[in-house]
Parts: sequence; C-alpha cells; structure tokens
Amino acid sequence: MQALNTTSLSLQDSRLQILDQQALPQEKCWLPCDSVDELVGHIRALRVRGAPLIGLSASLLLALLAERGLSQAELEQALQTLSASRPTAVNLMNNLDRMKQALAQPDWVSTMTEEALRLVEEDRTLCDRIADNGAEWVKPGSRLLTHCNTGGLATAGVGTAIGVLLRAHQQGKIAQVWVDETRPLLQGGRLTAWELGELGIPYRLICDSMAASLMATGQVDAVWVGADRIAANGDVANKIGTYSLAVLAHYHRIPFYVAAPHTTHDPHCPNGAAIPIEQRAAEEITGVSGSFGSCQWAPLNAPTYNPAFDVTPAALISGWVLDSGVITPEQVADGIFQRALA
Ligand code: MRU
Repeated sequence: MQALNTTSLSLQDSRLQILDQQALPQEKCWLPCDSVDELVGHIRALRVRGAPLIGLSASLLLALLAERGLSQAELEQALQTLSASRPTAVNLMNNLDRMKQALAQPDWVSTMTEEALRLVEEDRTLCDRIADNGAEWVKPGSRLLTHCNTGGLATAGVGTAIGVLLRAHQQGKIAQVWVDETRPLLQGGRLTAWELGELGIPYRLICDSMAASLMATGQVDAVWVGADRIAANGDVANKIGTYSLAVLAHYHRIPFYVAAPHTTHDPHCPNGAAIPIEQRAAEEITGVSGSFGSCQWAPLNAPTYNPAFDVTPAALISGWVLDSGVITPEQVADGIFQRALA
C-alpha cells in the first residue's frame, strides 16, 4: 500500500504505526500495529483514540491484512472483532461498513486498499470543510472553550472542533481558547494543550470544574466540542463532561457548537438514550496513570462509576457544524437528521 502520514498514523513499507496518545506529550512514541489483537489493545487503551481516527486505523489495518493474504472469512472475523473494540463512536462502524462492502467485491484485496486510502483522504477533506464552515460562526476576539481532544491527533486532517479553532485563529479571530483538562483521562490537559501549543493557538488550561465560574464572569464567548455519535433527533454523545458544559452554556446563554463529520451521524439511532455508552475501568477514576507516572488516591476497592461519554440533548445545542454546512436547531426540529436516512 502507498505510504501515508497523518499526525498520528504512519504507513510506510506496508506497515501501520500509531502515535501513542497515552505517552504524549511527555514522549513521542510510534507503536507498530501488525495484528487485529494489537490494534484492539491500542484502541481499548486509548493509544489510538478520537472517533474518526479509530475508524481509519481499523480500515487501514484490514486493508494491510488483505494484502498480506488473509482469507475473506478471516477478514470478516477481523472486521467483527474491530467493530466491537469501542462501542460509542459510530465512525468505526460506519468505516467498517464501507470496508465490508469492499470485502464483498471480486477483486477485494485491491478494493479494500483503495477504500481504506479513500477513507483517509475523505476524512482530511471533511475536516477542512468543517473548519471552513465553523470558522464563519466564530466572532472576532472570541474566547472559546473546548473539551477533550478533537484535533489532528483524533482525525486524518486538521480535526473537527480544533480544526474550527485553527481556521478561526488563522483568520485572526481567536483571543484565547480555554482547554478543559477532561478528567478522567486528561485528553484536554495532555493532548489538546500540546496540539494548540504546536499550532500556536493561544490557550489556557483549566480543570473541568472551572468552566462554570469562567462563564459566570463573562470570560467564555462560545463552547466548541466534537462528537462520537449524533442520533437522528440531534442528540450528541461526546466525552464525559460535555453535557455539563452544555447545561452551563445554556444557563449563561452562551452558544454551544458541535463539530463533526457526517460519518459521526447515526440515522439508525433514534435518540441519545439509544446510544451505547462505554463503561471503563475503576482505576481510571480511583487515581491517575500515564507516562507521567501513576498513583491511587481513592481507598482500595472504592466502588466506582466510570462512563466514558455522556449525551447532550439536541435542545442544548446551538449548531451542528458538519462538512455539509451548519445545521440549525430549527432544521433539527424539522427532522433533517432523520431525513438523511431516506
Ligand atoms: O475517549 P476518546 O478520547 O476517544 O473520546 C474522544 C472524544 O470524545 C472526541 O470529542 C470525539 O471522538 C471527537 S474526535 C474528532
């Protein structure tokens, strides 16, 4: 397969490597990814993460395995295993549906290769379109707040919400970005802080619990987040903590925007209550662990509850910024996401 490089995926000499997002920003460490088990391990440990990137890494690995001579039955099994690796982000299932169709073709090896590369290229284009569409909604001098990580690390391109921030920054419209640290796994504190620094976007890191007082004191002009799944009624699943931000933004009359490619839309999912929410290990909230070290602060065996995502109801969202344009609450109420199925 032809070589390709994104911020966090590398394909050279038909070998897939991923940038370990658990090691960042302390270390920039590329990990080989030669088998389904290896990739599933990376996905579950969030070494590969972000809705679009999970789907793209799985598609590229499948194409490589097809080139290495796996049978159609083995590839079908690989496809099933990969699609079960994380339940919430629908991009994975959407991308794998496309790979499944390629697998059903007579010349499936070359078709899968072409399809995986096309998905990467498409994602780059989708990110650019989201960035262009979203930047139009950013006012000059904006102080924006973002949650989790939605940039080049999580996609093949400039990202979704971070792509909008970058484009608006290039247009000279960003005064500052508030970066939520994003407990429990600190995608904001570790990854978004690092990415914004690399991009030269002015930012300040905050603990998640600080957003309310920033809003109350008039220091946030809009909130921009990504999405892991958009249901047919416009409800959005995204990183845990997103819903609290939406409630806060609503109370303080601050616009709350969701930026995502159409591959994040799931027309088969009627509403947020039907979105499967991944539950994760207790250790992620009884302490903290990463390339910076680890410690436990909660009592040993403390009972925990650790959902990785929450659902923001459509009623709290000011705009769904997609590659196709910005969808308004009126269009959502009118059933635009349901009609996409037709
Ligand atoms: O658990 P993660 O880090 O994969 O969660 C990621 C998010 O919630 C992102 O906001 C979402 O996937 C969009 S990434 C462009």
